Amino acid sequence: MHTPEPDRSDAACGLQKEEQVFRPLSNIVSRANVTPQEYAAALELAASDFKAYWEEAAEELGWFKRWENVLDESEAPFYRWFVGGRCNVVYNCLDRHIDTPNKNKLALIWEGEPGDSRKYTYYELYREVNRFASALRKLGLLPGDRIVIYMPNLPETVIAMLASAKIGAVHSVVFAGYSAKALAERIQAAEAKAVITCDGYYRNGQVLKPKPVVDQALERLDSRLAEVEHVVVAHRAHVETPMRKGRDHWFDDLVRFEPPEALTEVMDAEDPLFFLYTSGVAGKPKGMVHAHGGFMVGVHRTLDWVFDIKPTDIFWCTADAGWVTGHSYAIYGPLMTGATVVMYEGHPLYPQADRIWRLVSRYGITILYASPTLIRMLMGFGVEFPAAYDLSTLRLLGSVGETFNPEAWMWFYKVIGRQQCPIMDTWWQTETGMFMISPLPISLLKPGSVGKPLPGVEADIVDGAGKPVPPGVRGLLVIKKPWPSMFRELYKDPAAYKREYWEKIPGCYYAGDVAWKDEDGYFWIQGRADDVVNIAGHRIGSAELESAVLSHPDAVEAAAVGVPDPVRGEAVKFFVVARSGAENVDELPEVLKAYVRQELGPMAVVQAVEIVDSLPKTCSGKILRRALKARELGMGIDDLPGLD
Ligand code: PRX
Repeated sequence: MHTPEPDRSDAACGLQKEEQVFRPLSNIVSRANVTPQEYAAALELAASDFKAYWEEAAEELGWFKRWENVLDESEAPFYRWFVGGRCNVVYNCLDRHIDTPNKNKLALIWEGEPGDSRKYTYYELYREVNRFASALRKLGLLPGDRIVIYMPNLPETVIAMLASAKIGAVHSVVFAGYSAKALAERIQAAEAKAVITCDGYYRNGQVLKPKPVVDQALERLDSRLAEVEHVVVAHRAHVETPMRKGRDHWFDDLVRFEPPEALTEVMDAEDPLFFLYTSGVAGKPKGMVHAHGGFMVGVHRTLDWVFDIKPTDIFWCTADAGWVTGHSYAIYGPLMTGATVVMYEGHPLYPQADRIWRLVSRYGITILYASPTLIRMLMGFGVEFPAAYDLSTLRLLGSVGETFNPEAWMWFYKVIGRQQCPIMDTWWQTETGMFMISPLPISLLKPGSVGKPLPGVEADIVDGAGKPVPPGVRGLLVIKKPWPSMFRELYKDPAAYKREYWEKIPGCYYAGDVAWKDEDGYFWIQGRADDVVNIAGHRIGSAELESAVLSHPDAVEAAAVGVPDPVRGEAVKFFVVARSGAENVDELPEVLKAYVRQELGPMAVVQAVEIVDSLPKTCSGKILRRALKARELGMGIDDLPGLD
């Protein structure tokens, strides 16, 4: 049993109310993949020689050719990992299981929103991926070509991602809730040659149709900058779908006669595997580029250690494939470890708020990894729903994306985990590719804290000049050494990569988060330090929000800031200067709310729009968003750490 202990750090810090700590459960510790002794040895090795630590992690995976050098720092911050190594992440996700007892084990259990399900063994998934990989090759796609995938959580999404990686192409999955405008920007920025989508899918009892959105996005493209040659459409909802001859192909037609074996492209460890667009500190979303070798090493090691994966585990990460969590820990990571993955298509509250618990009991899920927003939503429905299901198969719980408030943590721990399942609150980012700060099942847990940096990760809290701040003092979260699954660049913007991440705090990676450490070295994340709003764990930059609102003719100036939201963590508040002479200014807030949602998609949750006469600015004319945010939070501007 985890036994509560009086809190020592609370009095020292006074920053966050933390009432209990929980000791690790003896039955979990005795069976953990990593024992306390091994953890201590790993920390020691990583502290003395972090390259040796990561080299050992790399040796657990299959390589076509061993690396010559673990890390090349000669062009820092453009680090290169496992230099000279040849590999392919898909070899580790699929190919190498085919010669082991995993061959006939379930790799993927997928459930559609209406309740239908599809199951794939490792062998079946391997063959499906091979067929689609051959089909992509036949369409003329080559290593290095970019493929945009615009689909929700479907088996074909997994197949498309793995097939793309298998042939050495680079995928960029775009969350299916994004609008045609956002999709077009991402297709254009990636200079994609192909787009993969589906005819329709189920969400909250409705059939949504992404193919017309793809068509609209393609109409918006500047053909001088990007030319999409192929659109592949998977059947899911069997709804009428416009198809353009020559360009559009049905997924089923392409794979029907393809052989179930296909060559796995031998990639350089540093070759790109995928891009994911996310909001950085300024301007449009940037394409974070991840590479085969380092990505697979970092993700495999951290998943194996943090979620303690056993051969019998049924692992469910509720994230959508369109986010990094969906990449690293819903698909690539668990397949590398040979686990059985559960994936769900639809809305978590459909047809009612017991859906998650129904899935857990139906499939005997052992590890559930979700977001605080989802837990808070479910908590709002009380204990009756979870009490109606057998959740006794669960042995570990996890959380990611936002600060997990202790109240929701305790609900998850007591009501869902029966005080028997440690909660792994993992801190990481699209940029980091893997967990960076997290407890292990053998760790002491403090509700609301993300624990300590994992072995091989050197994290700290510093002031604006890079000087470490004492325990209990808020500062900026930085990483002091490179790590294998780090993003390699911002696509086609090396200057921004250096400027935004590596030059803000000398010698460090700047994460953009405000955090503090307690006397025991536990990290407590407070939120973003930059102009990024974190809505339900999804990042949207103030600049992107403002540009959406400013495309409305009645808005002439705008500032977007994140404000607290009881369920989603944060939502957006806009301050807008209206066009002089605009009619119906009283109705403008509601009009702009709806407009932003249409422009950016449903993740852009706008809490309020305030019409103002002017915006606060610096002498150089930059909008002082921090001042607006401080006002909203009832703080002084100096109480919000930041760099500007
Ligand atoms: O602010 C931190 C928050 O999410 C940001 C990263 O967002 P994204 O790249 O979309 O990746 C989300 C999933 C990995 C971070 O800068 N964040 C992430 N995990 C946590 C968190 N905040 C508090 N606690 C966490 N566990």
